[in-house]
Amino acid sequence: MKDGLLQIAMQGMKDSEGSGTLAHHFLDGIMKIKSNFRRFLGYVKPYWYLIFFAAIGGAVKFTMPLVFPQVLSYLVDNVLGVDSAMSLELKRQTIVNLVVLVLGLYVFVYIPFTYLRHFAAQKASNKTIFDLRYDLYLHIQRMSASYFNSRQSGSIVARLINDIAQAQNLIGNALTNVWIDGVVIFFMLFIMLRINVSLTLISLTIFPPYIFITRKLKRRMREASRKVQDGTEAMQGNLQEKVSGYNVVQSFTREPEEQQSFQDEARALLHDSLTGAKWNSVNATAVGFLTGIAPVLVVFAASYLILDSKLTLGQMILFYSYLGSFYLPVNRFSELTQVLSTSMAAIDRIFEVLDIVPEVQDAPEAEVCTKADARDIEFRAVDFRYFNASRPALHQVDFTIKEGETVAIVGPSGSGKTTIINLIARFYDVSSGAILIGGRDIRRYTLRSLRQNIGMVFQESLLFCGTIKDNIRFGDTSASDREVREAADSANATRFILEQEQGFDTIIGERGTRLSGGQRQRIAIARVYLKNPRILILDEATSALDSESETQVQEALELLMAGRTTIVIAHRLSTVMHADRIIAMDDGRIVEVGTHGELLSKRGLYWHLHTTQYRTENNPAVH
Ligand SMILES: Nc1ncnc2c1ncn2[C@@H]1O[C@H](COP(=O)(O)OP(=O)(O)O)[C@@H](O)[C@H]1O
Ligand SMILES: [Mg+2]
Repeated sequence: MKDGLLQIAMQGMKDSEGSGTLAHHFLDGIMKIKSNFRRFLGYVKPYWYLIFFAAIGGAVKFTMPLVFPQVLSYLVDNVLGVDSAMSLELKRQTIVNLVVLVLGLYVFVYIPFTYLRHFAAQKASNKTIFDLRYDLYLHIQRMSASYFNSRQSGSIVARLINDIAQAQNLIGNALTNVWIDGVVIFFMLFIMLRINVSLTLISLTIFPPYIFITRKLKRRMREASRKVQDGTEAMQGNLQEKVSGYNVVQSFTREPEEQQSFQDEARALLHDSLTGAKWNSVNATAVGFLTGIAPVLVVFAASYLILDSKLTLGQMILFYSYLGSFYLPVNRFSELTQVLSTSMAAIDRIFEVLDIVPEVQDAPEAEVCTKADARDIEFRAVDFRYFNASRPALHQVDFTIKEGETVAIVGPSGSGKTTIINLIARFYDVSSGAILIGGRDIRRYTLRSLRQNIGMVFQESLLFCGTIKDNIRFGDTSASDREVREAADSANATRFILEQEQGFDTIIGERGTRLSGGQRQRIAIARVYLKNPRILILDEATSALDSESETQVQEALELLMAGRTTIVIAHRLSTVMHADRIIAMDDGRIVEVGTHGELLSKRGLYWHLHTTQYRTENNPAVH
């Protein structure tokens, strides 16, 4: 919340229109935080009827037991009292009648309404949370590369799971209890006033200190919750990273340091949690004290009134029994303050994500990029700088790749090769200049249709936990078993797949870890086969492989490239020699363009890369 304000404040300061806008932004910020709750209620709205049922059920559940003090007081004053005028027979009959009445009420009213109260409340909260979580998921899916690159995946997951769960508490208990408790308090007040006004006023004396304390603590509790949730997120992010990178941790024997940093993080979280616990406890104690001391005061005051014959003993018992039912919702209101603080912190965090506008998104009148459009690629004076980077990654990059051509991009590490393909797939948008596909700026196509026409194979192909078949079908979920098999054939993958215990149904573990690098790569190629894009991008697809798998993967790639417009980025120059054209990059600029022969004769960068590699590859001793 603080960060939000700060950001908004900074935006305001950047604004050239002066201090008026600064104040304006501040106000906006505060309004926004307040309005998060309203936005959250927007998600509850479709299920208002469930909340309504839950409230009705709750009102009955809580008010029905109030009948009993009436019965008790009636018993004391009219049946059991010494001055009762009833005959013994009538007294017995009255007691039986009362028992039947009370039991009947419990069975036929209390049971169904209590069930309704609990089930409807939980149904409402689960349904709301389902919708909110789904929206958040859809939104995160639309985020651009920069969002994912600047966050740990575990912390993104934390918002989807933990924060949503925190927000759920608010609807489950709080939102229904508010109504019930509000109603119950007024109802009780009415009954109590009818019994005795002075006693009622004494009961109310706890309210001013109660309100004062609650107000003071609310903000603190919310801040503490926010810290706990931020800390949990950070911890989850780091844990996920270290768990999946267990082999790096173990091979460097960094376990002690990792233990230490985990402990530090967990301790910081503990500290924040305890701060929260402290405020919560202060709140609970204060409210417990106030609601505990009040009945005592009431009894003493009532005793005086009885001595003065202004109150009967039955009335005192009646009033005293009601007092419990009066303070119960008061106590619950204070628990609500706690729930509200945690939930509101979570809701703030959820809407923070929902408010991030994806950097790359469809233009208002974006058109579909058809297969016919996805022919050629043209870069026109493209400049690009990553967010927060000190230097541009691309300078005035200009080139054209005609339909069906294969163009290779070479250059030292960090020269901007991967950046070029990131821009083609619109993982990022150019800073200036333009990229055209089929003669049209790619920003005028819908993201989805553009990406549907582009197939990519990276150096490390990420597969997902599931069967081999599922992973190949990732390229086209409607593909038949036969098509999957054909794709595997073309990718040179069928043989090793059939050697697996379950063939195509073999489960390959998270990130495909149960396969070798070359095998993973061939499944990734099969997956692109099924996708069947017009444009193909290969980013160091064979660089991580040993020479035997490289040959197999290279064969598969060549088959895949046939008839497609292809960009191939490769370290091993043997794979780029046959390209129609080679673009040599250095430091974000194109320094040479030509065929293998042309560039060699230039004796420039390409020649240099080629000769150094030739030397090292043929003479391992020289490095
Ligand atoms: N996500 C990123 N954020 C900031 N800078 C980046 C990012 N990715 C790459 N860079 C920088 O951009 C430059 C080009 O990187 P890249 O295109 O990956 O090079 P190559 O693929 O040729 O090795 C490098 O200086 C690199 O440090
Ligand atoms: Mg790269």
